[in-house]
Amino acid sequence: MQAHIQTVKTLLDALPYIRRFYGETIVIKYGGAAQIDPALKDKFAQDVTLLSLVGMKPVIVHGGGKSITELSSQLGIKAEFRNGLRVSDRDSLRVAQMVLCGEINTEIVSMLNDHGGKAIGINGKDGGFVKAQAIEGLGFTGEVREVNPDLILRLIEDRFVPVIAPIASSNEPSHPGFNINADTMASAIAGAIRAKKVIFMTDTAGVLDKEKKLLRSLSRADVEALKADSTIVGGMIPKVDSALEAIKYGVEKAHILDGRVEHALLLEIFTSQGISTEITR
Ligand SMILES: Nc1ncnc2c1ncn2[C@@H]1O[C@H](COP(=O)(O)OP(=O)(O)OP(=O)(O)O)[C@@H](O)[C@H]1O
Ligand SMILES: [Mg+2]
Repeated sequence: MQAHIQTVKTLLDALPYIRRFYGETIVIKYGGAAQIDPALKDKFAQDVTLLSLVGMKPVIVHGGGKSITELSSQLGIKAEFRNGLRVSDRDSLRVAQMVLCGEINTEIVSMLNDHGGKAIGINGKDGGFVKAQAIEGLGFTGEVREVNPDLILRLIEDRFVPVIAPIASSNEPSHPGFNINADTMASAIAGAIRAKKVIFMTDTAGVLDKEKKLLRSLSRADVEALKADSTIVGGMIPKVDSALEAIKYGVEKAHILDGRVEHALLLEIFTSQGISTEITR
């Protein structure tokens, strides 16, 4: 009996958060450890299914940097990065597309569906809904120019959970398309569909200071200072830049969340303090 009462209390504790986010769209960038460890993957799938079934509208954008680097090296293609962004020649783009669309996307879709979700996998080439252009010096790694929100909005209206691979089309005919950093893809999509929140799941506690202490809340000025003194480097650069972009587009809050923590998503959304680094206006 006591245990049942506890269950009911736990549900009631979640009620204010369910009410606050009911019907709201939350873009989740799924990357880092949460995307690799089998136990964490399973918990992520449970969390997303729960969010969806209590009336929130999660949209997943996934990364896959580690798997792309791994397969590239097996094929004798060297991975190269500039400011945290991958340099893609034609072969690296092929590998990125195979890994992201062929392997990771389908795996996430199955995982969500196994847990009772209604997931559907797409990438920016579907209906040409994400158009990109080249970034000087990065080959086929591109930046998003334009997102047509209609396809995603239709899917979420029908209660599907869109799972989006960060590959985009080009405006030029017969162009092979672009590999997009998943963080920038997530923020562009969050802006286009007017998401309430964007959450970047990764494999650190959040944004850390020079002493490796978690920073709980950052403004644009804080982020610029941390980049200027090289506290924020590598893969964290596109992440914080994307968080700021999303906010500029009108998303209320961006979070950089520790995907190594079990049920990190529920801890972030259903508790008052959360566990992430928050980037706010
Ligand atoms: N100040 C900082 N605080 C925390 N992490 C930082 C900081 N500066 C750089 N990093 C690095 O950024 C990394 C996160 O970005 P990374 O691109 O490696 O992962 P991801 O974006 O989660 O995954 P993927 O790129 O595969 O989608 C951390 O693992 C850490 O090494
Ligand atoms: Mg990254």
